[in-house]
Amino acid sequence: MKFAKKLIAVLALVPGLAFASEGGFPLERAPDRHDLSSLQNGAKLFINHCLNCHSASSMRYNRLRDLGLSEEQIKSNLLFSQDKVGGMMTTAMRPDDAKAWFGAVPPDLSVIARAKSSPSGTGADYLYTYLRSFYKDDARPTGWNNMVVPNVAMPHVMWQQQGVRQAKFQEVPDPHEHGKMIHKFAGFEQVTPGTMSSQEFDTATADLVAYLSWMAEPAQGQRKKLGVIVLIFLSIFAFLAWRLNESYWKEVK
Ligand code: HEC
Repeated sequence: MKFAKKLIAVLALVPGLAFASEGGFPLERAPDRHDLSSLQNGAKLFINHCLNCHSASSMRYNRLRDLGLSEEQIKSNLLFSQDKVGGMMTTAMRPDDAKAWFGAVPPDLSVIARAKSSPSGTGADYLYTYLRSFYKDDARPTGWNNMVVPNVAMPHVMWQQQGVRQAKFQEVPDPHEHGKMIHKFAGFEQVTPGTMSSQEFDTATADLVAYLSWMAEPAQGQRKKLGVIVLIFLSIFAFLAWRLNESYWKEVK
């Protein structure tokens, strides 16, 4: 009995622990943008802004046909000269160089949207918040820092679109320790405007995140369709079974 109580007490702590290890910056819900034009826009942003450093090595360019793009469109708009339509989305950057330049190897992004899902939000929420939380920090080697991944090695690659932002911090008393002060985040401040308005930047980021989610789970759309077909089949089958049952019992009565 005592043991059971202890076990329950420990189990009750588990979700709390998982949450506490998340770094604490609250995640925003990624807007749902799953129509084809959003996904196409996301694919374009991904290829232009992310593939220089990251790869998506389980993704072939020609799978973009599933997003409604023709082979010709993929070839002329999205491929870098050295890549083939049937090829994988690899990066030209060597991991050793990346390590030397940034101090960290950029992770493969094929399934990043699945890898980053946690009790505090879906992988899409994580990516949406991460990509919109860069701020200028001259103390960092790249000149940028991030609220979701403090001291991140990745620079803010879309800073021209978002513009330069600073993070404001306030000194407030620590609620847990008397007499101690803590550095509390108090919002972003736009220093110079970007080529996009903040609304446009949010939408572009949402498209990019929708593409990253699609890439991590391209069969998702198909699976949902299959689920609907299975449900229709089951209801027809249930109806037939019910009619058949009726007619059998009629004979007996
Ligand atoms: C100039 C090189 C570079 C470019 C371009 C770049 N990244 Fe990164 N990225 C990195 C590096 C380096 C890391 C590893 C950061 C670390 O571990 O501190 C990283 C890490 C990440 C992570 C993991 C963050 C985490 O939770 O630890 C994500 C997600 C990511 N990048 C997404 C993107 C997306 C999306 C783009 C395109 C908009 C992009 N990156 C463009 C260099 C780059």
